[in-house]
Amino acid sequence: MFFFKRAFCARSNRSSQSRLRNPHKCAMHSVSFFAAVLSLLSPLGWSQPAGAQSAPAAIRYDSSTRVFRIDAADVTYAFGINEKEELQSLYWGKRLAINDPLQAAHRRKGGSSFDPDVNVTPQEMVGWGGGLYVEPDVKITFPDGNRDLVLHYLDHTIEANALIVRMKDIQRDVFVTLRYEMNTDTGILARTARIENKTQTPLTVEEAEAATWNLPASRDYQLSYLTGRWAGEWALQHQAINPGKTILESRRGSTGDESNPWFAIERGNHSDEDNGDVWFGALGWSGSWQIAIEKNYAEQVRVTGGFTPFDFSYRLAAGESLQTPTFYGGYSHDGIGGASRLLHRFELNALVPQAPHRRLRPVLYNSWEATEFNVDEAGQEALAEKAASIGVERFVMDDGWFGQRKDDHAGLGDWYVNPVKFPHGLKPLIDKVHALGMDFGLWVEPEMVNPDSDLYRAHPDWVLNFTGRPRSEERNQLVLNLARPDVRAHVFEVLDKLLSTYDISFLKWDYNRNWSEPGWPAVAPEDEKRVYVAYVQNLYGILRELRAKHPGVEIESCSGGGARVDLGILGLTDEVWPSDNTNAFDRLSIQDGFTYAYAPGLMMSWVTDSHKSTSLEYRFLSAMQGSLGIGANLKDWSPANLDTARKMVAQYKQVRPTVQDGALYRLISPRDGSEYSVTESVSADLHQAVVFAFLHSSPMSYAAYPRIYPRGLDEKAVYRITALDGQLARETPAAASGAFWMQAGIDVNLWADFQAAAFTLQKEGE
Ligand code: GLA
Repeated sequence: MFFFKRAFCARSNRSSQSRLRNPHKCAMHSVSFFAAVLSLLSPLGWSQPAGAQSAPAAIRYDSSTRVFRIDAADVTYAFGINEKEELQSLYWGKRLAINDPLQAAHRRKGGSSFDPDVNVTPQEMVGWGGGLYVEPDVKITFPDGNRDLVLHYLDHTIEANALIVRMKDIQRDVFVTLRYEMNTDTGILARTARIENKTQTPLTVEEAEAATWNLPASRDYQLSYLTGRWAGEWALQHQAINPGKTILESRRGSTGDESNPWFAIERGNHSDEDNGDVWFGALGWSGSWQIAIEKNYAEQVRVTGGFTPFDFSYRLAAGESLQTPTFYGGYSHDGIGGASRLLHRFELNALVPQAPHRRLRPVLYNSWEATEFNVDEAGQEALAEKAASIGVERFVMDDGWFGQRKDDHAGLGDWYVNPVKFPHGLKPLIDKVHALGMDFGLWVEPEMVNPDSDLYRAHPDWVLNFTGRPRSEERNQLVLNLARPDVRAHVFEVLDKLLSTYDISFLKWDYNRNWSEPGWPAVAPEDEKRVYVAYVQNLYGILRELRAKHPGVEIESCSGGGARVDLGILGLTDEVWPSDNTNAFDRLSIQDGFTYAYAPGLMMSWVTDSHKSTSLEYRFLSAMQGSLGIGANLKDWSPANLDTARKMVAQYKQVRPTVQDGALYRLISPRDGSEYSVTESVSADLHQAVVFAFLHSSPMSYAAYPRIYPRGLDEKAVYRITALDGQLARETPAAASGAFWMQAGIDVNLWADFQAAAFTLQKEGE
């Protein structure tokens, strides 16, 4: 290696003067020399270090500068060990050249006696100790009252695809193990931490964050995040990052829809969403969470995320450890649109259970809006016949089939088939659905119980509660305490039995309220708050085991709409229900917001009778921007409407791979009361683009619809344009180059209230 170091430095640093001025520079080069040589052979201009060619991301450690560097796709991430043995963030952003200098880390100066250095030294993982005033990653109380935790670098290992760094308190045997794993295709970095008590006594963890992301210095950052409420999820918020702290959080016991665990930070204020530097991140956790965005007086921006510290405490007995959620982070040079596309690719190709060979979402029918709780064999069979006749591929029976379920007052928890509604069990219905060429799906809400149920009468102690206090009901139901081993075992057993008894291909897994009185009286008082972690771990455990035992079953995460959508649940489910609001116009903004963080291919969208005054075509085109479903009462649809539906379903199947798995460009956002909405999806091979355009209403009788400028096409290829629905302007040529369409644009004839159009651009000869 010494030879290579000499050789490489001699080549890259023209004068020995510069080597003297920067003694660390050559050292990084020495480690990277193999990679530099290999990069000459690589079409991407980059390669893995020798001996690690199969590793997904390049991970390097330079022992002379004590700098770690991770590279993949268009991203470089680097941090170093400073003279205090702290892990100091050095760089996160666009990929650097292999020989770009990454200087050794040196502690920053705080400036005054009021501002200890530790607060302005950007750290990867910092304990609450010394004079720390910023958000800590870890805070611990020891049994002797000591609450000082100062974490220093201990050692590290580089595995094929992960960097693992151990830290330790300066005195006590508290270890924190950091794991970094970068996705090759997108440069999205997964970070997580494990806190381990190797002392002889228990200790209490009071804050446990997965990671802190430190952004490059800038005075001009803008934060975007997603907020909402039931039936009004996925509203994009946007604000300047000023000195101070913004907390995004859920205290609800689950992800929640008031705030989603995703953020994006743009440098500068870009009106064009496909240009500019954007850093983004999302938590893989389906329980209470926090993301804190802080900017200090030195203009440093740091983002810390993991469990919310609110009402948090986790006692670790000697030898025990606590694993944090995963905090994913990424960088895009192509604006917030590029950031979304990276996240979508990551979710579909690396995160969801069947990645990278995910099945396209089948066209689904769901009975909820048609029959609500009034399901029975004859009624469902009649709906199934209609659904099959228009091309539906999966028939899902929603709420109402079990226990004494007539409405939402009773039955949750009693997962036996209601003998009045289904006297012969579910088999005849399932057989019928199969005979019609569809697969069968079923609604369940396994984490909940109605007080009016056999389960609750038998086990009133199984719900979250504080002894002797009222148990607040929401939707007449209580939350089962899944953290209890007996509840976990019961829930698994019930679902396993259902899936073993019946030929079920799909579960719509619902969760229709958030927590209240989150007590766990069965354990010692000092362990009760473990419920926040243990509940979610057990939820994940059940999902994991069910999938392993029933590999053909797919699962949708639903929580009264989109209240449990996050990168944790998406690692174990196949799709999500973004909102109970199925109004086709409202959906345009809901879907727009959803796609900032999550892929259209994971987003179920139904055509229903909500907003019936709009044309069926409008409703279909709105839903066709995601994974298409139908939730209307098909028994009431006229033959003409069924014909339209059949045509639209067939068209959807033609463009489905592009819509579900393609690159999404939000060409015109329906946000902020816009009259217009245009999305474009481009297939990965650039052979097809699909554009959907919507008009709310034309001001002043008539206003020309904005010209549509597609993006992401192959400039040189010739694309033929075809209207799927609605009209293109008369003068639109039949075919032109990708460059032409992108530069000259396309006009659609939309002039009246609630009109929509869709067209495809298909490479000639395809
Ligand atoms: C929730 C879901 C709906 C439906 C009902 C059934 O609200 O979001 O789609 O399944 O529960 O009770």
